[in-house]
Amino acid sequence: MNLKPETIAKIDQLVPRYPTQRSAALPLCHLVQEDQGYLSNEAIEWIAARLELEPINIQEIVTFYPMLRTEPVGKHHVRVCRTLPCALAGAYQTCRRLEQELSCKVGHTSEDGEFTLEYVECHADCGHGPVVMIGEEQYNDIDPDKASELAAKMKSGELPGGITYS
Ligand code: FES
Repeated sequence: MNLKPETIAKIDQLVPRYPTQRSAALPLCHLVQEDQGYLSNEAIEWIAARLELEPINIQEIVTFYPMLRTEPVGKHHVRVCRTLPCALAGAYQTCRRLEQELSCKVGHTSEDGEFTLEYVECHADCGHGPVVMIGEEQYNDIDPDKASELAAKMKSGELPGGITYS
């Protein structure tokens, strides 16, 4: 597997810090996902071999934690917070609008590979819900109409960018 040299260096530094190699499994999953975008079967086997574990030991971690992905994400990775404060502020309506605008069902990637739409849990900005992340940018107070604006900007290539609604 082709990991960046800096990822390998981080892994080599990290593993000896843990009392047992198995304890490094979750951090390694994050590092490899950061490098590759997702955790393929090859990546899972690589992590297992690096930690002298069986692939099933890594697979069970990958399937347990929702932030670990086994499929590549679209060009725009759109995440809608659905924890209670955002849900009460209308996160489900916002997400439905995004589904329509992006032609992408929540939990999936659009057929053209442009958009991945997912629910996530609290982003610790509960007073400004619904909170939407596009890539690493956070957008606050996103009601369905603002969701339509964001969708239009993503489609036109204006986003990801620096605008925020607050
Ligand atoms: S509930 Fe959405 S940011 Fe906290």
